[in-house]
Amino acid sequence: MNSPNPPFKALIAAGKLDLPVRMRRNRRADWSRRLVRETALTVNDLIWPVFIIDGVNRREPVASMPGVDRLTIDEAVRAAARAQALGIPALALFPNTDPALRDPQGTQALNPENLVCRALRAIKKEAPEIGIICDVALDPYTSHGHDGVLRGEEIVNDESVAMLVGQSLNQARAGCDVIAPSDMMDGRIGEIRKALDAEDFEHVQIMSYAAKYASAFYGPFRDAVGSGGLLKGDKRTYQMDPHNSDEAMREVAIDIDEGADMVMVKPGMPYLDIVSRVKREFGVPTYAYQVSGEYSMIMAAARNGWIDADNAMIESLVAFKRAGADGVLTYFAPAVAEKLLKTL
Ligand code: PBG
Repeated sequence: MNSPNPPFKALIAAGKLDLPVRMRRNRRADWSRRLVRETALTVNDLIWPVFIIDGVNRREPVASMPGVDRLTIDEAVRAAARAQALGIPALALFPNTDPALRDPQGTQALNPENLVCRALRAIKKEAPEIGIICDVALDPYTSHGHDGVLRGEEIVNDESVAMLVGQSLNQARAGCDVIAPSDMMDGRIGEIRKALDAEDFEHVQIMSYAAKYASAFYGPFRDAVGSGGLLKGDKRTYQMDPHNSDEAMREVAIDIDEGADMVMVKPGMPYLDIVSRVKREFGVPTYAYQVSGEYSMIMAAARNGWIDADNAMIESLVAFKRAGADGVLTYFAPAVAEKLLKTL
């Protein structure tokens, strides 16, 4: 009998075995392919990012993200109910703030009546079973489009952290389940954790955007939240340099140490090596963000008839699971959930 086991490589190398293993044997039938499958994508892996706008009963298409709309709060509530019915575990909310309300400090982030807080309360009332994740960063609220406070040419760290702590508490008071700092300021996880605990929010989780890179793939998102046109310069003094991998491990280690419950790598597909390293080296709940540019590339190619949208969507998400991610933030979430339900 041919055993693929011990030293078949050596035997082949020595010319002693003539094709001992036929890898294609296991691939002949669908049942067999399913039987040998190593990873699975399920609805439990999905986090759905949703863009919120002011108004009533309105959906506003995001031109650079075919198939994605900005939703008024009532529409977002319906989306949350749909997501809950589909079994999607969580939504991530992103506001598109009225430009008149944006200022250099991003003070709207602290307003209990801001879009995100109102959306949170409305969704919690109608779809209480779904988890709500809120981004913590000032870019939807600043007149310069940066994630922190700008002094002269500099995004000042500690003043920004103070604002981010205030933003986190504001969102926790409105019912946020998971605080997700995406700003990349130093020391913010520890400060946010302390402030949450001091207000009896010790049950509120923190999902840290621990390894977030200064990426070209965020363009369509910045359109969606209306910060793109405002952004002066770039975010390279706080987001990571795409050339670095060891540095991402330090970022993750620090955030875990400061109290992050879950960590995230962002963008997703171009950074699967980082996802894989984080999961292997730390063994903590690890997420990836399939960002706007990744979504739009797939949709644009599909709309040109160059690739099949559904297959590319599933394959791209399976890749995250194979790399070790415990879940993925993806604009495909509702479409994938529906497809997975159909194929059950
Ligand atoms: C803001 C934030 C960004 C994204 C999530 N939170 C953009 C940025 O850092 O400029 C990008 C998400 C996407 O592209 O889908 N801090």
